Amino acid sequence: MLRRPTPLTTSATAALAVAASLIVMVPGTSSASSSSTSSSAADAFTPGSSGLGDPYFPHAGNGGYDVGHYDLKLRYDPKSDHLSATATITATATKNLSRFNLDFSGLKIGAIEVNGKRASYQRKGQELVITPKHGLPSGEKFTVEVAYSGKPKAINDEALGLEGWITTKDGATAVSEPDGARSWFPANDNPQDKATFTFRVSTPAGVTVLANGEPKNSGIVGVRHGWTTSRWEMSQPMAPYLAMVAIGKFKVSEGTVNGVPNITAYDPTLAKQSQYLHRTTAKAIQWESKVFGTYPFSSTGGIADVLKVSYALETQGRPVYDMAPGDDLEIVHELAHQWFGDSVGLKSWKDIWLNEGFATYAEWLYQEQHGGPSAQKTFANYYKKKGDFWKLKTGDPGKAGMFDWNAVYLRGAMTLHALRTKIGDDTFFSLLRTWAEDNRHGTVVTRDFTDLAEKESGQDLDALFDAWLYHAAKPKL
Ligand code: TRP
Ligand code: ZN
Repeated sequence: MLRRPTPLTTSATAALAVAASLIVMVPGTSSASSSSTSSSAADAFTPGSSGLGDPYFPHAGNGGYDVGHYDLKLRYDPKSDHLSATATITATATKNLSRFNLDFSGLKIGAIEVNGKRASYQRKGQELVITPKHGLPSGEKFTVEVAYSGKPKAINDEALGLEGWITTKDGATAVSEPDGARSWFPANDNPQDKATFTFRVSTPAGVTVLANGEPKNSGIVGVRHGWTTSRWEMSQPMAPYLAMVAIGKFKVSEGTVNGVPNITAYDPTLAKQSQYLHRTTAKAIQWESKVFGTYPFSSTGGIADVLKVSYALETQGRPVYDMAPGDDLEIVHELAHQWFGDSVGLKSWKDIWLNEGFATYAEWLYQEQHGGPSAQKTFANYYKKKGDFWKLKTGDPGKAGMFDWNAVYLRGAMTLHALRTKIGDDTFFSLLRTWAEDNRHGTVVTRDFTDLAEKESGQDLDALFDAWLYHAAKPKL
């Protein structure tokens, strides 16, 4: 479910392809009908691009198609750490495709089929290049089935840490921001291309499985030869980096909040205070629904696991905590991302402040409304900071700086507070709700937010946003 601001027309795409002389003959098409000298350029079937132009992640995501659904069948044995899987991806071609790419790293490929017919493929770094037997016409749906297996290997980026398939004492949990999805399933791994997901996870009996969304039949849909299969559905569009499975020993609590299931789970070694996550999740969802508007997904919850990463992740509908969350604010932060980051998603990673600045400001608002310091007081404290605090640009912190605590989290939140001070509480809080509502399940860029803020307030806010987002310096008040 890719939404582009200005979709290229078929003929424009073809014209670009001609200009770049990327024409590839489609097997079975006569050379006359796709000759670049004839007027039938629209017939040309050319390769989809290997990236979507993200400046921080040029190889992540791929062009020429739009994924609608991922059906991930995963069979995982925690004892041997062996995964054997089939990913069935339903997509729509957005141009005539002679071949296309998926992002996929590591794991061995068994076979690939496109529309039920064996396809050939090549692997180049993180690119899986698939050439179907027949060209894929623009506008038509197609399915890709990739069978793969092996020991999944997490992605370890110097600046971004460990992400992807993370093994644990008793299983594995997948947390894939920003580009770790390719370590466990073939994906169009770019936040622009959201899709719905089905997870069918088989494990030895007695192992618990959780994932995004809701379980079918309390999770267990099959029992065979000592293995059980769990099925979970995420029915709202989701960026691949937010896809999650958690496999292992878990103590699960089920309840309801705001009319949706609340499913939380603790690794048993963390379960001493096993109701804390459950209770606080419900409390945070209730408060956030009041402040940000209707909760965007059909279930919620959280998973506390013993994970060798040093962050929690806002995996859609059900965040993952890398240990037992110690205070309300951490839970408030991850759940605020359900509105800001998950439902209202990014088009480009450089706009990550739209995720982290908003989730951090949610913490300040929660404190303010629960007997803690006012957001103004929190803002004033950080405003005193000198030197390196102001070093990066909040609105374009660089790939290595995308999770910079000062530049993105704190100064992102400060940007929102400066805005609130300028436009007043009534306009500010209604702006937050309109932003979440207008862009529900969509993707955005910073400009969309600044335009909406100007429209809602009737003020010229260029100077404010320019100073707070695009200068590596302390803005004047
Ligand atoms: N988005 C996560 C959060 O704030 C943080 C996160 C995800 C992260 N991946 C990371 C932080 C990698 C540092 C490095 O809630
Ligand atoms: Zn965050």
